[in-house]
Amino acid sequence: MKHFIINAVLVIVSTFAIHAGLSSVGLLPALASAQGVSIDQLFGIYTWGIAFLFSLIVVVLLYSLVVFRRKKGETGDGVHMEGSSQLEIAWTVLPLIAVLYLASLGAQSLAETRRIDPSAMIVKVIAGQWYWQFQYPELGIGSGDLYLPVGAQVDLQMTSNDVTHSFFVPEFRLKQDILPGRTVDLRITPTVIGHYKVSCAQLCGSNHAYMIANVEVVSQSDFQAWVTKQLATASQNPVLHGQQLVQQFGCPVCHSTDGSKKTGPTWQHLYQSTVTLADGTKVTADEKYLSNSIIDPNLQIVSGYQPNVMPATFGQSLDAGQIQSILAYLESLK
Ligand code: CUA
Repeated sequence: MKHFIINAVLVIVSTFAIHAGLSSVGLLPALASAQGVSIDQLFGIYTWGIAFLFSLIVVVLLYSLVVFRRKKGETGDGVHMEGSSQLEIAWTVLPLIAVLYLASLGAQSLAETRRIDPSAMIVKVIAGQWYWQFQYPELGIGSGDLYLPVGAQVDLQMTSNDVTHSFFVPEFRLKQDILPGRTVDLRITPTVIGHYKVSCAQLCGSNHAYMIANVEVVSQSDFQAWVTKQLATASQNPVLHGQQLVQQFGCPVCHSTDGSKKTGPTWQHLYQSTVTLADGTKVTADEKYLSNSIIDPNLQIVSGYQPNVMPATFGQSLDAGQIQSILAYLESLK
C-alpha cells in the first residue's frame, strides 16, 4: 500500500509536469477558425491523456527499477504471484470506457466541424501541379490568393486538375485531401483577421514544397473593396488581368519573360515570332498558335522541348475570357 500511494503521487506530479512542458512548447499556432474550437478541446484532452499514460508507464517502471532492484547479497527468487481476475477485468473495462468516451468526443467534434450554414459563400478551389486557384462563382471573380471575410462561413468546393493534393491552413486546423475528378467540401468560418498560408499537405510531385498560396482574412468592408477591385481589373485591364492569371496558375515556374530557357519556351518576343516545331516546320506565333498552346499544349511542340510536360488541363480550368486576358498579356511581351 505504501508503494501504491508513493507511485500514485509521483504519477500525478509527473502528469502535471509533462502537461506543462508540452503546453509551453506551443504545439499549435494560434487558432483562427470556429471549426477549430472543438478540435483544440480534443487536442487538450489528448495532451492530458498523453501526459498521464506516459507518467503511468515510465514512473512505475523507474520506481520498480530503483526500489525493487536486487540488493547486495540477495540470491533468492522473487515472490510467486498467481493471476488476478479483478486486475484483468479492471484493465479491460477501464480502457474500453476511455476509448468509447474519446470516440464519442471525436464524433461530436466531427459533427461540429461539418455544421452547414446555408448562407455560406461558395469558393471553388482548384488545385494543380503546382498552383492554387480560387474562384468565386457568385461574385464572378477568380484569384490566386484566398480572400475571406471574417466571421462568415465559406464553403470551399475543392477539386484537383491532376493528382491528389491537400488543403491545409494550420490556424484553421482542418485539413482536406483534394482528388482529381471529384469535388469535396470543406467549410471554414475564419474568426481572426490576419495573413495565413495554405500549403499542400500531400506529396504531389517535385514542386510540392512550393505549392503555397496566401490566405487573407479581412473585414467585411475590406472584402467588398477587394471584390470591387478584382472586378474592375478583369474588365478594364486585360493585360494586368492576364498577368495575374499566369501568376495564379504558376506559369512562370516554366516560362520566363526575360528570354531565358526554362522547362518551357520563354514568352519574351514570342508573339508574332517564327517558331520552329519539333518536326521541323516553322509557324508564326500568332494568337491562334498561342491559344492552341494553352488549350492543347502537346499539339505543336517547339523544337528542343519535351511533350507531356505542360498540363493539358488549362482548356477546362480557364474560361474564354481568361484565355483572352492571358493572350493580351503574352502579346504585350512582344
Ligand atoms: Cu500539391 Cu503537394
